[in-house]
Amino acid sequence: MNAIEVIDKKRRKEELTKEEIKYIFEGFLNGTVENYQMSALLMAIVLNGMTDEEVYALTDVFINSGDVLDLSNISGIKVDKHSTGGIGDKTTLVVAPIVASLGIKVCKMSGRGLGYTGGTIDKLESIPGFRVSLSEDEIIKQVNEIGLAITSQTKNLVPLDKVVYALRDVTGTVESIPLIASSIMSKKIASGADKIVIDIKVGSGALIKTLEDARHLSALMINIGKKYNREVRTLITDMNTPLGKAIGNSLEVIEAVSILKGRGKDTYLYNVCVELASNLVSMALNESLEDARKMVVENINNGQAYDKFMEFVKYQGGEVSKLKVSDKTMIVRSEKNGKITDIDALKVGMLSASLGSQCEREGDLIDYNVGVVLHKNIGDLVNEGDALCTVYLGTKEPAFNPLECFKIETF
Ligand code: URA
Repeated sequence: MNAIEVIDKKRRKEELTKEEIKYIFEGFLNGTVENYQMSALLMAIVLNGMTDEEVYALTDVFINSGDVLDLSNISGIKVDKHSTGGIGDKTTLVVAPIVASLGIKVCKMSGRGLGYTGGTIDKLESIPGFRVSLSEDEIIKQVNEIGLAITSQTKNLVPLDKVVYALRDVTGTVESIPLIASSIMSKKIASGADKIVIDIKVGSGALIKTLEDARHLSALMINIGKKYNREVRTLITDMNTPLGKAIGNSLEVIEAVSILKGRGKDTYLYNVCVELASNLVSMALNESLEDARKMVVENINNGQAYDKFMEFVKYQGGEVSKLKVSDKTMIVRSEKNGKITDIDALKVGMLSASLGSQCEREGDLIDYNVGVVLHKNIGDLVNEGDALCTVYLGTKEPAFNPLECFKIETF
Protein backbone atom coordinates (compact mmCIF):
# COMPACT_ATOMS: atom_id res chain seq x y z
CA MET A 1 0.00 0.00 0.00
CA ASN A 2 1.19 3.54 -0.60
CA ALA A 3 -0.28 7.03 -0.10
CA ILE A 4 -0.67 7.74 -3.82
CA GLU A 5 -2.81 4.61 -4.34
CA VAL A 6 -5.08 5.62 -1.45
CA ILE A 7 -5.47 9.22 -2.71
CA ASP A 8 -6.13 7.96 -6.23
CA LYS A 9 -8.78 5.55 -4.98
CA LYS A 10 -10.66 8.37 -3.23
CA ARG A 11 -10.29 10.52 -6.35
CA ARG A 12 -12.05 7.71 -8.27
CA LYS A 13 -14.87 7.84 -5.67
CA GLU A 14 -14.17 4.33 -4.42
CA GLU A 15 -14.67 3.35 -0.78
CA LEU A 16 -11.47 3.17 1.29
CA THR A 17 -10.94 0.22 3.61
CA LYS A 18 -10.25 0.73 7.32
CA GLU A 19 -6.65 -0.42 6.69
CA GLU A 20 -6.18 2.22 4.01
CA ILE A 21 -7.65 4.95 6.21
CA LYS A 22 -5.46 3.88 9.13
CA TYR A 23 -2.37 3.67 6.92
CA ILE A 24 -2.65 7.15 5.45
CA PHE A 25 -3.90 9.06 8.54
CA GLU A 26 -1.53 7.40 11.01
CA GLY A 27 1.24 7.93 8.46
CA PHE A 28 0.45 11.63 8.46
CA LEU A 29 0.69 11.79 12.25
CA ASN A 30 4.03 9.97 12.36
CA GLY A 31 5.51 11.82 9.40
CA THR A 32 5.63 9.12 6.70
CA VAL A 33 2.83 10.76 4.73
CA GLU A 34 3.59 14.29 3.55
CA ASN A 35 1.49 17.43 4.06
CA TYR A 36 0.80 17.74 0.34
CA GLN A 37 -0.41 14.13 0.16
CA MET A 38 -2.78 14.58 3.10
CA SER A 39 -3.98 17.87 1.54
CA ALA A 40 -4.81 16.05 -1.69
CA LEU A 41 -6.67 13.30 0.18
CA LEU A 42 -8.64 15.82 2.27
CA MET A 43 -9.72 17.70 -0.85
CA ALA A 44 -10.76 14.41 -2.49
CA ILE A 45 -12.85 13.68 0.65
CA VAL A 46 -14.43 17.16 0.53
CA LEU A 47 -15.36 16.69 -3.12
CA ASN A 48 -16.30 12.99 -3.17
CA GLY A 49 -17.53 12.46 0.38
CA MET A 50 -17.19 9.35 2.54
CA THR A 51 -19.49 6.42 3.17
CA ASP A 52 -20.75 5.94 6.72
CA GLU A 53 -18.38 2.97 7.10
CA GLU A 54 -15.44 5.17 6.12
CA VAL A 55 -16.52 7.81 8.67
CA TYR A 56 -16.72 5.17 11.44
CA ALA A 57 -13.27 3.88 10.49
CA LEU A 58 -11.79 7.38 10.44
CA THR A 59 -13.33 8.23 13.82
CA ASP A 60 -11.81 5.09 15.30
CA VAL A 61 -8.37 5.93 13.92
CA PHE A 62 -8.69 9.44 15.37
CA ILE A 63 -9.74 8.17 18.82
CA ASN A 64 -6.90 5.67 18.96
CA SER A 65 -4.29 8.25 18.00
CA GLY A 66 -4.03 9.40 21.64
CA ASP A 67 -5.32 9.12 25.20
CA VAL A 68 -8.88 8.27 26.11
CA LEU A 69 -9.97 9.88 29.38
CA ASP A 70 -10.94 7.33 31.99
CA LEU A 71 -13.78 8.80 34.05
CA SER A 72 -14.60 5.57 35.88
CA ASN A 73 -13.45 7.17 39.16
CA ILE A 74 -16.41 9.53 38.92
CA SER A 75 -19.59 7.82 40.01
CA GLY A 76 -22.81 8.15 38.05
CA ILE A 77 -23.62 9.33 34.56
CA LYS A 78 -21.26 11.89 33.07
CA VAL A 79 -22.59 14.32 30.46
CA ASP A 80 -20.98 16.61 27.92
CA LYS A 81 -22.15 19.22 25.45
CA HIS A 82 -20.69 20.49 22.23
CA SER A 83 -21.44 23.20 19.70
CA THR A 84 -20.25 23.12 16.12
CA GLY A 85 -19.36 26.77 16.67
CA GLY A 86 -21.06 30.09 16.30
CA ILE A 87 -20.83 33.83 16.85
CA GLY A 88 -21.76 34.86 20.40
CA ASP A 89 -22.27 31.24 21.45
CA LYS A 90 -21.83 31.28 25.23
CA THR A 91 -24.27 28.43 25.90
CA THR A 92 -21.72 26.16 27.64
CA LEU A 93 -21.26 28.79 30.36
CA VAL A 94 -25.00 28.64 31.06
CA VAL A 95 -25.88 25.01 30.34
CA ALA A 96 -23.08 23.30 32.28
CA PRO A 97 -23.88 24.94 35.67
CA ILE A 98 -27.64 24.45 35.21
CA VAL A 99 -27.14 20.72 34.65
CA ALA A 100 -24.55 20.37 37.44
CA SER A 101 -26.91 22.20 39.85
CA LEU A 102 -29.32 19.28 39.35
CA GLY A 103 -26.71 16.85 40.66
CA ILE A 104 -25.56 15.62 37.22
CA LYS A 105 -21.83 15.31 36.61
CA VAL A 106 -20.57 17.55 33.83
CA CYS A 107 -17.10 16.95 32.55
CA LYS A 108 -16.30 19.12 29.59
CA MET A 109 -13.26 19.75 27.47
CA SER A 110 -13.62 22.90 25.42
CA GLY A 111 -11.72 24.55 22.64
CA ARG A 112 -10.49 27.96 21.64
CA GLY A 113 -12.03 30.08 18.89
CA LEU A 114 -11.89 28.77 15.34
CA GLY A 115 -12.13 31.18 12.43
CA TYR A 116 -14.56 33.87 13.57
CA THR A 117 -16.40 31.64 16.03
CA GLY A 118 -15.46 32.11 19.67
CA GLY A 119 -14.25 29.35 21.99
CA THR A 120 -15.40 28.63 25.53
CA ILE A 121 -11.82 28.46 26.79
CA ASP A 122 -11.08 32.00 25.57
CA LYS A 123 -14.25 33.23 27.27
CA LEU A 124 -13.37 31.54 30.57
CA GLU A 125 -9.84 32.89 30.36
CA SER A 126 -11.26 36.42 30.39
CA ILE A 127 -12.16 35.85 34.05
CA PRO A 128 -9.07 36.97 36.00
CA GLY A 129 -7.33 34.02 37.64
CA PHE A 130 -9.37 31.30 35.91
CA ARG A 131 -7.27 28.17 35.23
CA VAL A 132 -8.19 26.57 31.91
CA SER A 133 -5.67 23.71 31.95
CA LEU A 134 -6.49 20.94 34.38
CA SER A 135 -4.74 17.58 34.62
CA GLU A 136 -6.78 14.37 34.42
CA ASP A 137 -6.51 13.95 38.20
CA GLU A 138 -7.65 17.51 38.81
CA ILE A 139 -10.65 17.06 36.50
CA ILE A 140 -11.74 13.89 38.31
CA LYS A 141 -11.28 15.45 41.77
CA GLN A 142 -13.20 18.58 40.80
CA VAL A 143 -16.12 16.73 39.19
CA ASN A 144 -16.37 14.45 42.23
CA GLU A 145 -16.39 17.45 44.58
CA ILE A 146 -18.56 20.04 42.81
CA GLY A 147 -20.02 18.13 39.85
CA LEU A 148 -18.55 20.32 37.12
CA ALA A 149 -15.23 20.98 35.40
CA ILE A 150 -14.50 22.76 32.13
CA THR A 151 -10.95 22.53 30.86
CA SER A 152 -8.97 22.86 27.67
CA GLN A 153 -8.23 19.62 25.88
CA THR A 154 -5.40 17.67 27.41
CA LYS A 155 -2.37 17.59 25.12
CA ASN A 156 -2.63 14.03 23.95
CA LEU A 157 -6.39 13.90 23.33
CA VAL A 158 -6.90 12.96 19.67
CA PRO A 159 -3.54 14.38 18.49
CA LEU A 160 -4.39 13.29 14.93
CA ASP A 161 -7.32 15.73 14.88
CA LYS A 162 -5.02 18.58 15.90
CA VAL A 163 -2.67 18.08 12.94
CA VAL A 164 -5.43 17.28 10.44
CA TYR A 165 -7.53 20.25 11.58
CA ALA A 166 -4.55 22.63 11.25
CA LEU A 167 -4.06 21.41 7.68
CA ARG A 168 -7.79 21.62 6.87
CA ASP A 169 -7.80 25.20 8.12
CA VAL A 170 -5.22 26.28 5.51
CA THR A 171 -6.32 24.09 2.59
CA GLY A 172 -10.02 24.99 2.29
CA THR A 173 -11.08 21.58 3.58
CA VAL A 174 -12.88 22.46 6.82
CA GLU A 175 -16.39 22.32 5.36
CA SER A 176 -16.87 18.58 4.95
CA ILE A 177 -19.61 16.71 6.83
CA PRO A 178 -17.64 13.41 7.19
CA LEU A 179 -14.53 15.26 8.39
CA ILE A 180 -16.50 17.43 10.83
CA ALA A 181 -18.37 14.39 12.20
CA SER A 182 -15.23 12.36 12.86
CA SER A 183 -13.31 15.36 14.23
CA ILE A 184 -15.99 16.27 16.76
CA MET A 185 -17.11 12.77 17.72
CA SER A 186 -13.57 11.43 18.20
CA LYS A 187 -12.93 14.18 20.77
CA LYS A 188 -16.28 13.61 22.48
CA ILE A 189 -15.73 9.86 22.74
CA ALA A 190 -12.13 10.29 23.94
CA SER A 191 -13.32 12.79 26.58
CA GLY A 192 -15.20 9.97 28.27
CA ALA A 193 -18.77 11.23 28.86
CA ASP A 194 -21.73 8.80 28.64
CA LYS A 195 -24.38 11.19 27.29
CA ILE A 196 -23.69 13.98 24.89
CA VAL A 197 -25.78 16.78 23.41
CA ILE A 198 -24.54 18.47 20.26
CA ASP A 199 -25.73 21.87 19.12
CA ILE A 200 -25.45 21.97 15.33
CA LYS A 201 -25.39 25.59 14.26
CA VAL A 202 -26.69 26.44 10.82
CA GLY A 203 -26.43 29.74 8.98
CA SER A 204 -24.17 32.49 7.71
CA GLY A 205 -22.09 32.55 10.90
CA ALA A 206 -21.71 28.76 11.10
CA LEU A 207 -19.64 26.07 9.45
CA ILE A 208 -22.82 24.35 8.28
CA LYS A 209 -24.82 26.44 5.86
CA THR A 210 -27.85 24.28 5.02
CA LEU A 211 -30.47 22.34 6.95
CA GLU A 212 -29.81 19.31 4.74
CA ASP A 213 -26.12 19.24 5.75
CA ALA A 214 -27.10 19.75 9.40
CA ARG A 215 -29.44 16.73 9.26
CA HIS A 216 -26.78 14.59 7.62
CA LEU A 217 -24.23 15.61 10.28
CA SER A 218 -26.76 14.93 13.01
CA ALA A 219 -27.49 11.38 11.80
CA LEU A 220 -23.78 10.59 11.44
CA MET A 221 -22.92 11.82 14.93
CA ILE A 222 -25.78 9.93 16.56
CA ASN A 223 -24.70 6.73 14.79
CA ILE A 224 -21.05 7.20 15.73
CA GLY A 225 -22.19 7.60 19.35
CA LYS A 226 -24.11 4.29 19.16
CA LYS A 227 -20.95 2.45 18.03
CA TYR A 228 -19.28 3.51 21.28
CA ASN A 229 -22.31 3.04 23.48
CA ARG A 230 -22.80 6.77 23.99
CA GLU A 231 -26.22 8.35 23.83
CA VAL A 232 -26.09 11.39 21.57
CA ARG A 233 -28.84 13.93 20.98
CA THR A 234 -28.55 16.83 18.60
CA LEU A 235 -30.27 20.19 18.30
CA ILE A 236 -30.16 22.16 15.06
CA THR A 237 -30.16 25.87 15.89
CA ASP A 238 -29.95 29.15 13.99
CA MET A 239 -26.68 30.97 13.40
CA ASN A 240 -27.70 33.52 10.79
CA THR A 241 -27.68 36.17 13.50
CA PRO A 242 -25.38 36.19 16.56
CA LEU A 243 -26.56 34.22 19.59
CA GLY A 244 -27.51 36.78 22.23
CA LYS A 245 -26.48 40.40 22.40
CA ALA A 246 -22.81 40.15 23.39
CA ILE A 247 -19.91 39.07 21.17
CA GLY A 248 -16.42 39.13 22.69
CA ASN A 249 -14.99 37.19 25.61
CA SER A 250 -15.66 39.07 28.87
CA LEU A 251 -18.84 40.61 27.40
CA GLU A 252 -20.14 37.09 26.73
CA VAL A 253 -19.35 35.91 30.26
CA ILE A 254 -21.36 38.85 31.60
CA GLU A 255 -24.29 37.94 29.34
CA ALA A 256 -24.08 34.28 30.40
CA VAL A 257 -24.23 35.34 34.05
CA SER A 258 -27.30 37.46 33.36
CA ILE A 259 -29.05 34.46 31.74
CA LEU A 260 -28.17 32.36 34.79
CA LYS A 261 -29.71 35.08 36.95
CA GLY A 262 -32.96 34.59 35.05
CA ARG A 263 -32.70 37.72 32.92
CA GLY A 264 -33.27 37.50 29.18
CA LYS A 265 -36.18 35.05 29.51
CA ASP A 266 -37.81 34.17 26.19
CA THR A 267 -34.86 35.39 24.19
CA TYR A 268 -33.50 32.93 21.63
CA LEU A 269 -30.31 32.54 23.70
CA TYR A 270 -32.29 31.66 26.84
CA ASN A 271 -34.45 29.16 24.93
CA VAL A 272 -31.46 27.44 23.29
CA CYS A 273 -29.75 27.13 26.70
CA VAL A 274 -32.90 25.67 28.28
CA GLU A 275 -33.32 23.15 25.43
CA LEU A 276 -29.68 22.02 25.55
CA ALA A 277 -29.76 21.67 29.34
CA SER A 278 -33.15 19.89 29.29
CA ASN A 279 -31.90 17.29 26.81
CA LEU A 280 -28.90 16.52 29.01
CA VAL A 281 -31.06 16.31 32.13
CA SER A 282 -33.58 14.12 30.32
CA MET A 283 -30.86 11.68 29.19
CA ALA A 284 -28.99 11.62 32.50
CA LEU A 285 -32.03 11.22 34.78
CA ASN A 286 -34.20 9.30 32.34
CA GLU A 287 -36.91 11.95 32.56
CA SER A 288 -39.26 13.14 29.84
CA LEU A 289 -38.08 16.26 28.07
CA GLU A 290 -41.04 18.13 29.52
CA ASP A 291 -40.18 17.23 33.12
CA ALA A 292 -36.50 17.95 32.51
CA ARG A 293 -37.43 21.39 31.19
CA LYS A 294 -39.37 22.15 34.39
CA MET A 295 -36.36 21.17 36.51
CA VAL A 296 -34.04 23.34 34.42
CA VAL A 297 -36.26 26.42 34.61
CA GLU A 298 -36.77 25.92 38.34
CA ASN A 299 -33.02 25.85 38.98
CA ILE A 300 -32.54 29.06 37.02
CA ASN A 301 -35.38 30.71 38.95
CA ASN A 302 -34.27 29.56 42.42
CA GLY A 303 -30.66 30.74 41.85
CA GLN A 304 -29.08 27.28 42.16
CA ALA A 305 -27.72 27.34 38.61
CA TYR A 306 -26.11 30.73 39.22
CA ASP A 307 -24.66 29.55 42.56
CA LYS A 308 -23.16 26.52 40.78
CA PHE A 309 -21.54 28.78 38.19
CA MET A 310 -19.97 30.90 40.95
CA GLU A 311 -18.77 27.80 42.80
CA PHE A 312 -17.23 26.37 39.62
CA VAL A 313 -15.44 29.60 38.66
CA LYS A 314 -14.07 30.00 42.19
CA TYR A 315 -12.89 26.37 42.26
CA GLN A 316 -10.88 26.97 39.09
CA GLY A 317 -9.33 30.14 40.55
CA GLY A 318 -11.46 32.75 38.76
CA GLU A 319 -12.78 35.99 40.27
CA VAL A 320 -15.95 37.07 38.50
CA SER A 321 -15.96 40.38 40.40
CA LYS A 322 -12.69 41.31 38.64
CA LEU A 323 -14.09 40.74 35.14
CA LYS A 324 -13.37 43.79 32.96
CA VAL A 325 -14.68 45.24 29.72
CA SER A 326 -12.97 48.00 27.79
CA ASP A 327 -13.99 51.50 28.88
CA LYS A 328 -13.22 52.84 25.38
CA THR A 329 -16.53 52.51 23.57
CA MET A 330 -18.18 53.69 20.37
CA ILE A 331 -21.92 53.76 19.89
CA VAL A 332 -22.97 52.92 16.33
CA ARG A 333 -26.15 54.71 15.26
CA SER A 334 -28.60 54.17 12.45
CA GLU A 335 -28.25 56.61 9.56
CA LYS A 336 -31.85 56.21 8.47
CA ASN A 337 -35.40 55.36 9.55
CA GLY A 338 -36.52 51.82 8.75
CA LYS A 339 -36.78 48.21 9.83
CA ILE A 340 -33.83 45.93 10.65
CA THR A 341 -34.08 42.96 8.30
CA ASP A 342 -30.69 41.36 8.98
CA ILE A 343 -27.86 41.34 11.51
CA ASP A 344 -25.20 39.25 9.83
CA ALA A 345 -23.59 36.83 12.27
CA LEU A 346 -20.44 36.36 10.21
CA LYS A 347 -19.93 40.13 9.83
CA VAL A 348 -20.39 40.70 13.58
CA GLY A 349 -17.90 37.89 14.25
CA MET A 350 -15.41 39.46 11.84
CA LEU A 351 -15.91 42.86 13.46
CA SER A 352 -15.27 41.51 16.95
CA ALA A 353 -12.27 39.46 15.77
CA SER A 354 -10.78 42.53 14.08
CA LEU A 355 -10.82 44.30 17.46
CA GLY A 356 -8.69 41.48 18.87
CA SER A 357 -11.30 39.24 20.53
CA GLN A 358 -9.74 36.21 18.89
CA CYS A 359 -6.60 35.04 17.16
CA GLU A 360 -6.82 35.72 13.45
CA ARG A 361 -3.34 34.30 12.96
CA GLU A 362 -1.44 31.78 15.06
CA GLY A 363 0.34 33.55 17.91
CA ASP A 364 -1.98 36.60 17.94
CA LEU A 365 -2.72 37.87 21.45
CA ILE A 366 -6.37 37.96 22.49
CA ASP A 367 -7.85 41.14 23.92
CA TYR A 368 -10.43 39.73 26.33
CA ASN A 369 -12.14 43.07 26.98
CA VAL A 370 -13.19 44.05 23.45
CA GLY A 371 -16.26 43.14 21.43
CA VAL A 372 -19.72 44.23 20.43
CA VAL A 373 -23.04 44.52 22.26
CA LEU A 374 -26.11 44.63 20.04
CA HIS A 375 -29.00 46.87 21.06
CA LYS A 376 -31.48 45.83 18.40
CA ASN A 377 -33.02 42.64 17.01
CA ILE A 378 -34.15 41.66 13.56
CA GLY A 379 -37.61 43.11 12.97
CA ASP A 380 -37.05 46.19 15.17
CA LEU A 381 -38.07 49.56 13.78
CA VAL A 382 -35.38 52.23 14.08
CA ASN A 383 -35.14 55.97 13.59
CA GLU A 384 -32.10 57.83 12.35
CA GLY A 385 -29.74 58.29 15.32
CA ASP A 386 -30.95 55.24 17.27
CA ALA A 387 -28.17 53.16 18.83
CA LEU A 388 -27.69 49.85 16.97
CA CYS A 389 -24.73 48.52 18.92
CA THR A 390 -21.86 49.50 21.19
CA VAL A 391 -18.35 48.59 20.09
CA TYR A 392 -15.85 48.00 22.91
CA LEU A 393 -12.47 49.05 21.55
CA GLY A 394 -8.95 48.06 22.51
CA THR A 395 -5.78 48.93 20.64
CA LYS A 396 -7.05 47.89 17.17
CA GLU A 397 -9.42 49.81 14.93
CA PRO A 398 -12.49 47.97 13.57
CA ALA A 399 -11.65 46.46 10.16
CA PHE A 400 -14.78 47.98 8.59
CA ASN A 401 -17.69 50.26 9.39
CA PRO A 402 -19.85 48.40 11.99
CA LEU A 403 -22.96 49.64 10.14
CA GLU A 404 -22.15 46.94 7.53
CA CYS A 405 -23.39 44.32 10.03
CA PHE A 406 -26.95 45.66 9.79
CA LYS A 407 -29.41 45.64 6.94
CA ILE A 408 -32.05 48.34 7.41
CA GLU A 409 -34.85 48.62 4.90
CA THR A 410 -36.75 51.86 4.50
CA PHE A 411 -40.42 51.87 3.59
N1 URA B 1 -15.16 21.64 15.25
C1 URA B 1 -14.30 20.61 15.33
O1 URA B 1 -13.85 20.27 16.40
N2 URA B 1 -13.97 19.96 14.21
C2 URA B 1 -14.44 20.30 13.00
O2 URA B 1 -14.10 19.67 12.02
C3 URA B 1 -15.33 21.38 12.93
C4 URA B 1 -15.69 22.04 14.08
